[in-house]
Amino acid sequence: MTSSIMPGLVTFKTIVPNEGLQAALARSRSDVIHEISASKLKGRGGAGFPTGVKWNLAAAACGEPKYIVCNADEGEPGTFKDRVILSEIADIVFEGMTIAAYAIGATKGILYLRGEYTYLRASLEDVLRKRREANLLGDKILGSDLSFDIDIHMGAGAYVCGEETALIESLEGHRGEPRNRPPFPVDTGFQGKPTVVNNVETFVCAAAILGKGAAWFSAIGTEKSSGPKLFSVSGDCDRPGVYEFPLGVTIEQLLDVVGGNNAKAVQVGGASGQCIPAGQFDRAICFEDVSTGGSVIVFGPQRDMLHIAKNFMEFFVEESCGQCTPCREGNAKLLEGIERLEKGQCSMAYLNELCRLGEVMQLSSKCGLGQSSPNAFLSIVKHFREELMGRPHPATR
Ligand SMILES: Cc1cc2nc3c(=O)[nH]c(=O)nc-3n(C[C@H](O)[C@H](O)[C@H](O)COP(=O)(O)O)c2cc1C
Ligand code: SF4
Repeated sequence: MTSSIMPGLVTFKTIVPNEGLQAALARSRSDVIHEISASKLKGRGGAGFPTGVKWNLAAAACGEPKYIVCNADEGEPGTFKDRVILSEIADIVFEGMTIAAYAIGATKGILYLRGEYTYLRASLEDVLRKRREANLLGDKILGSDLSFDIDIHMGAGAYVCGEETALIESLEGHRGEPRNRPPFPVDTGFQGKPTVVNNVETFVCAAAILGKGAAWFSAIGTEKSSGPKLFSVSGDCDRPGVYEFPLGVTIEQLLDVVGGNNAKAVQVGGASGQCIPAGQFDRAICFEDVSTGGSVIVFGPQRDMLHIAKNFMEFFVEESCGQCTPCREGNAKLLEGIERLEKGQCSMAYLNELCRLGEVMQLSSKCGLGQSSPNAFLSIVKHFREELMGRPHPATR
């Protein structure tokens, strides 16, 4: 079975509220984790870490209390699907967090909400209040031995705070800077205690899996990338918006639906993702091919690829936390190189040096920001080298 390709939150809106939570509470904690593992659910925040493995590690970790954190920082350029989930089905997000709490033995949950989404806070607090009134949060939830509640914590606009260890630093009231890993949050997370950090959409998937079953979920998508996935589609297309596709959808299929067929390239995965040229639109969006947390930006034929690379690199220069040298200096050097290219003052040898620098950054940066910030530049150079080098030298203009 595969889910059909449709705009909006189609499959997620078929979730019967609290069916998953009731099913979870009727089973043992290890059975719940087993169901999540059997579904082959991978985290929807970008990295695609298997959720069952994460929950299992946190369940086995020593230390009390344990925490469930929902990552709603959503700072990746071009991503807005978590905002739509929180606007339309927040109840299911909180249900998924409660299922996770039961599975790992957590008593406290935190929704880390992007600063720019402050306007959602009142409605989210209202959903939480109603869940408390219905005994879906609080002491002895639905008569079980689970006691769990959720607070909302506001982010303050730093992209790096979406990285889970920087997010935890920020929750603790410190500067939002990534930690060294290991130890991982499942062992040493918020306040040094075992903590599961999952994306908003991951918690919705977890609720769906407990309600509808692992077999239902894993029948959607591909062998290694199961389930439906939400995509935030923007840029040069007729119908931008949030779409649901089964993982494994090709870029071409997606462009057909959103009206972006004459695209020159598509940026999959936001600023930290890859730029895919038209010749490769038969590639699949899934963890084994072109992976993404959900952002798809369409570039029409008139777009200047160097301008796009510059735009992304300016973002990373601004957002690097500055802790480690490869990222702090590397992003600035890549931006400098792009400015040389703009002026027609970059030789092929220098461009090759810039690419080597990007590869060093991918290997040696401390966190995912610096490890992925050269991706867009490197893929644009790979696929559009002629366009980039084709600028006339000032002396010949
Ligand atoms: C710079 C940076 C920003 C990130 N921003 C987000 C974000 O906004 N939301 C998110 O869920 N994950 C984000 N992540 C990934 C998180 O570190 C983490 O992998 C994720 O929240 C885990 O949830 P998942 O397993 O459900 O995907 C970011 C990672 C990096 C390196
Ligand atoms: S890679 Fe960048 S954002 Fe991450 S710790 Fe290093 S400087 Fe900070």
